Amino acid sequence: MADLHPARDQSGGREPAMDFEAVYQGRQIAYGADDRRSDLIPWRLDAPQPLVVELEAAGEIAGPVLECGCGLGDNALFLAGRGHEVTAFDAAPSAIERSRAKAAAAGTPVTFTVADATELRGIAVPGGFRTVVDSAMLHCLDADQRRTYLAGLRRVCAPGAKLHVLCFRGELAARLVVLADMDERSLREAFPDEWTIRRMAPRHYTTGLTRQEWQKLTPAVPGVPESDDTVTVDQHGRVLLPFWQITAELA
Ligand SMILES: C[S@@+](CC[C@H](N)C(=O)[O-])C[C@H]1O[C@@H](n2cnc3c(N)ncnc32)[C@H](O)[C@@H]1O
Repeated sequence: MADLHPARDQSGGREPAMDFEAVYQGRQIAYGADDRRSDLIPWRLDAPQPLVVELEAAGEIAGPVLECGCGLGDNALFLAGRGHEVTAFDAAPSAIERSRAKAAAAGTPVTFTVADATELRGIAVPGGFRTVVDSAMLHCLDADQRRTYLAGLRRVCAPGAKLHVLCFRGELAARLVVLADMDERSLREAFPDEWTIRRMAPRHYTTGLTRQEWQKLTPAVPGVPESDDTVTVDQHGRVLLPFWQITAELA
């Protein structure tokens, strides 16, 4: 697994993947070869991801819904609050524990479960899921894991199911660890034939970081070109990252 780190160490090699369980246990995240520390969780909004809200408002979510790599559970809770039947999983047990506590406090029914996306063990509903939401998880997988995951999703989905993915665009390699290529062609090739890509659009993912926090944690990598919109902010001062919005449909 990998996520928000500077892209390369001083020797040009890749940094180790992020330990998500440690992050959710409240341990500090180490960034960069010089081991800068932070206890911020960059994707923590305490609210649903705006692009997920947009999909729901556009009528692009139909239950039963599966959320993959649900993290702190805010997207799943939002979708359940909108009346959808939701199952959500994450590989990090502490994320699921925290999500279950939130669901109980809110009285919102969501099936939160610990599972690995490359196995999907125990993930099933009668008739199959009609919508899958992946908000910033796919880019945590290397190329082989992505293929295994996307192929495995077919088993748990109903015919005609929609898969909505939000994932890094390649430009972020100037600042962050990216385990596999995030250019349009590589991503399209990761989808097995049964998934038809209906939308692949450059969009932005909202983080919980201010511009200052982002710049402190992810200094630009010398020699790696950065796009003009690598760091933009929304009206609340939250950093927006260049992401792909992909929607695929199962045959
Ligand atoms: C960047 S976070 C995004 C969390 C949440 N979806 C959001 O947008 O706020 C990525 C999440 O994917 C989870 N994850 C990474 N690899 C995974 C895998 N192989 N199986 C299940 N979850 C995984 C991590 O534990 C983490 O919670």
